[in-house]
Amino acid sequence: MKPLILINFKTYKEAAGDKALNLAKEIAKVKRDKYQVAVAPSLLTIKEVAEKTNLTVFSQHADPVSLGAHTGRVPIAELKSIGVTGTILNHSERKVPLKYLKETIKDCKNEKLITIVCASSLSEIKKIAESHPDYIAYEPKELIGGEISVTTANPDIIVKAVNLLSELSDKTKLLCGAGIHSKEDLGQALLLGTKGVLIGHAVPKAKDPKKFLSEMLI
Ligand code: G3P
Repeated sequence: MKPLILINFKTYKEAAGDKALNLAKEIAKVKRDKYQVAVAPSLLTIKEVAEKTNLTVFSQHADPVSLGAHTGRVPIAELKSIGVTGTILNHSERKVPLKYLKETIKDCKNEKLITIVCASSLSEIKKIAESHPDYIAYEPKELIGGEISVTTANPDIIVKAVNLLSELSDKTKLLCGAGIHSKEDLGQALLLGTKGVLIGHAVPKAKDPKKFLSEMLI
C-alpha cells in the first residue's frame, strides 16, 4: 500500500470558492506514482472537486446523521453519493465529543467511507483506537500551521504512537501531521513508521503549489 498524502484545504482563502477547483487541478497534475494523494476541500467546494478532478476526495468532517431533518449537518450518505471517498474526523479545529466520534466512525464503516481520525495525544489515540478507524492522524495542536514539522519537533512521540497503535489495532494505520512542508519531513515521517501525512497550509499557500508538491513527492 502506497503512503497516503492528504492535503487539507481547510478554509484557506487560497483554496476557497472558485480557487478550490483550480488548486485541486494543479495538485492532480503532480506525478504521484509512489504515493496516494488525496485532498480535503472545504465542505462548500467538495462536490465540485469530486466531480471535476480524478483526485481522491476526503471531507473535512462528517456527522452521524441520516438524510433527513438535520440542519447544518454533514450526512455520510450524502458524502458518498457525491463521490467522496473518506473523511477527516475530530480535527483539532473541529473537535467532537468521544461518544459522537465513535458513532460517526461506526456509521462511516457502514457506508464504507474511509476514516482519518485526528488525535493530539497518546491517550487520545488509545481511546480512538477502540473504534478501529482506518487511520489515526497524530497532530499536536501547538505545531499546526507552523513551520516546525512534528517530525522534527517530536520524533519520539511518533514512534511511541506507531508502537502503541500496533498493539491496540491491527486495522488502524498511523499518519502524522502539523508543519509538514518538505520532502525531508515526509521521508522522516515514513522512516518513523507512519503510513503517510496530512499537510495543511504548505500546499495552498505555496507560490506554485504544483511545483511545491512535485518537489516534495519526488
Ligand atoms: O490537517 C492537517 C493539519 O492540521 C496540519 O496543518 O498547516 O500544520 O500542515 P499544517
